[in-house]
Amino acid sequence: MRGWMGKFRSLLLFGALTLILTGCGIENVSALKPKGYGSELLFDLMMISIAIMIFVFVIVMAIYAFVLFRFREKKGQEDVIPKQTEGNKALEVIWTVIPIILLLVLAIPTVQATFDLADQSSQDDEGTLTIDVTGNQYWWQFTYADQEISTSQELYIPTNERVYLNMKSSDVIHSFWVPAISGKMDTNPGENTNTMYLEAYEEGVYEGFCAELCGPSHSLMYFKVIAVSPDQYDKWVEDMKNVDPEAEPETASAQEGQELFNNNCMSCHAIGGGSAGVGPNLANFGNRSKIAGILEPTKENLKDWIVHPDEIKPGNQMPAELVTEEEADKIADYLLELQHSDVGQDVPVIEASE
Ligand code: CUA
Repeated sequence: MRGWMGKFRSLLLFGALTLILTGCGIENVSALKPKGYGSELLFDLMMISIAIMIFVFVIVMAIYAFVLFRFREKKGQEDVIPKQTEGNKALEVIWTVIPIILLLVLAIPTVQATFDLADQSSQDDEGTLTIDVTGNQYWWQFTYADQEISTSQELYIPTNERVYLNMKSSDVIHSFWVPAISGKMDTNPGENTNTMYLEAYEEGVYEGFCAELCGPSHSLMYFKVIAVSPDQYDKWVEDMKNVDPEAEPETASAQEGQELFNNNCMSCHAIGGGSAGVGPNLANFGNRSKIAGILEPTKENLKDWIVHPDEIKPGNQMPAELVTEEEADKIADYLLELQHSDVGQDVPVIEASE
């Protein structure tokens, strides 16, 4: 009786877990609702393997049920043993050949997709966009070398265009993953550059994750891919090229903040231009939908982040208490004013937490 209760409980647990996990198919976040070329290819592969598994399961269960009923003990025949079959050549061949066929059905599209996703033949074509991606503990840098733009945390790309990413890391191995658009790719430290491409079908803000354990704040290493129409993308590039790091902010507090920022933060950060520092380029900070990839973009949160980054993202490189609360207040005013482009502000955002 006790054993049955245990089994019943684990059945209940797995049932509940299945119900909870079926809630994971969120738009623009999930690999189960593909919105890009790579993710669509991978989704099809998942469906093929699931179909094969269901097929095998149903056949095996049907045979099992048949045998169970056909050969059960019957009244008056308790001592009868059914005819024993051994070394049946036809059966042996059938159940060797069927798995081979199933594996081939799975292997052919898998190998095809692998080569397809590794295809870099159009990377050197005229007009192809290549972006350098660098993984850092715990943020992402995106450098558009040809356009002399460097940003962080939010990757702008045009829709329906193959955009190549040359990826590396400045410290440890990270993994770049935007489930709704494409598969994963590791970023490695050193000279080894990995290349992959993204192609998003629809405008939108897509949630991205680091998919390789990289330190205490690995699970906070979020980023976003903002896919906009090619026209809007061109406008964004223009806006970003026109960022003037010296431009005077509007309010007095922000002006003081700019000076404090230049004196305390510029040795790591940059604003505008193609340059990349030890820390993120903050050119479009005021346009970002999240602070440090995780906090709502309010002034209070930003002040907390500036003074106590270690408490929000443990293990990150930004020094704690570099400036006072008062100074952080002014720096926050300045940074939140850095809104150089309205591109992408109206595209649909769907959060992973919703
Ligand atoms: Cu970077 Cu995990």
